[in-house]
Amino acid sequence: MYTPTLRLENKVVIVTGAGCVGPGWGNGRAISVRFAQEGARVFAVDKSLEAMTETHDMIRAFGGDFTPYVADVTDSKAIVSLVQACIAQYGTVDILINNVGGPAPGGPVALSEESFDAQIDLNLKSVFLMCKYVIPVMESKGSGAIVNIASISGIRFSGAPQVGYAVSKAGVIQFGRVVAVEYAKKGIRINSILPGQLHTPLVDVVLANTQSGGDVESLLKKRQARIPMPFTGDGRDTANAALFLASDEARFITGTELIVDGGMTAKCD
Ligand SMILES: NC(=O)c1ccc[n+]([C@@H]2O[C@H](COP(=O)([O-])OP(=O)(O)OC[C@H]3O[C@@H](n4cnc5c(N)ncnc54)[C@H](O)[C@@H]3O)[C@@H](O)[C@H]2O)c1
Repeated sequence: MYTPTLRLENKVVIVTGAGCVGPGWGNGRAISVRFAQEGARVFAVDKSLEAMTETHDMIRAFGGDFTPYVADVTDSKAIVSLVQACIAQYGTVDILINNVGGPAPGGPVALSEESFDAQIDLNLKSVFLMCKYVIPVMESKGSGAIVNIASISGIRFSGAPQVGYAVSKAGVIQFGRVVAVEYAKKGIRINSILPGQLHTPLVDVVLANTQSGGDVESLLKKRQARIPMPFTGDGRDTANAALFLASDEARFITGTELIVDGGMTAKCD
């Protein structure tokens, strides 16, 4: 699936949510591995050190450069410390991947006020805070690339009511557009990826319980039925899109979105 070409050689990348809720290809894990394969030095952030173990093992297996760091990216003090730690370790930040996020079920009546606030904090405020403290580092050297992992739920109803998730991901998309315009002349690009319904460990570990009474197979079938392509993608598909947007090949691309969904949002029935 991959042909490493070292197109991120020596670039320092911060990946948030570099672990995964279970074994396999979550988005943050796949991005960390793919970027390390391309020669990046990966400063990996997650609230759980254990969740990053498999990511670390995969990267260690080919001698890639990986530094795990434990922090909650909804906490601004923790973010200040993590950016300092990255600079102490690698000297700079070239690329920021804002990947932390996740859904809570429920429309406006079912979702509690506390859960709604928590969704905004996890999915949107985390992106704002990471940019707040990383952009000055990029600005000081006149270059940088930021990729936010949003979701097609930010532009469509994607099959289950999860209003806090949908509006926070819509916010991430618009955040990327306005920040892109502000920083375009300063050499900083910012774009969003909108993954569709992937088969990541989140489906088996979390969504099967919240959406399908624990029945993983029936949920996978339901998700596949919405996708025109005859298979379901996984975190590696998000990672390849992120690699392009973070690399110099995307030098004229900012303030936009790349949908990775097997055609799901192009379909209208
Ligand atoms: N899985 C999908 O099908 C899918 C589809 C569209 C978008 N996405 C988006 O992709 C991103 C990653 O999702 P995934 O399912 O691959 O990941 P995941 O849920 O498997 O892993 C996310 C990681 O983030 C960490 N994390 C959670 N909260 C954190 C916090 N506050 N601070 C630091 N770390 C934290 C977790 O410990 C975990 O290791 C999310 O933004 C999600 O909304 C996923």
